[in-house]
Amino acid sequence: MSGAQPQGSNKPPLSTAKKERLLADARAMLARAYAPYSKFHVGCAVLTESGATYTGCNVENASYGLTICAERAAICAAVAAEGDAVRIRALAVLNGNHAPCSPCGACRQVMFEFGPDAEVIFQGRDGLEHSTARALLPAGFTL
Ligand code: THU
Repeated sequence: MSGAQPQGSNKPPLSTAKKERLLADARAMLARAYAPYSKFHVGCAVLTESGATYTGCNVENASYGLTICAERAAICAAVAAEGDAVRIRALAVLNGNHAPCSPCGACRQVMFEFGPDAEVIFQGRDGLEHSTARALLPAGFTL
């Protein structure tokens, strides 16, 4: 695993133990995924600057476009718990198919809103990849 400091952040990289914990929390959410259409189970865990962790899974719908990704479900749980001051420190996302799967564009924008310098861990082609919300979404939208 890379120990690189997230670009633009003055925070030290998350410890290996905290990353492992976040990944375990994301993995535990795979069992909760509601994915009867794609059969692609996704689990996510978000660590906020407060030190709390929030989790989410993908929630599909018969009207496919209404599907909510695991990342956005977890981020919404964080906002619901901590309110508008919530800041994302790190996010881990895993799928049950061991498939390379980086966060979708919509989720990148939502991550960017609450933690542009958040560390983002996801499954790449050759194992886990580490990036940041800002690196995944250059020129993210702000108002
Ligand atoms: N999905 C996520 O939950 N997160 C991602 O990063 C990519 C895709 C979900 C949406 C849908 O339920 C299934 O994976 C297949 O696209």
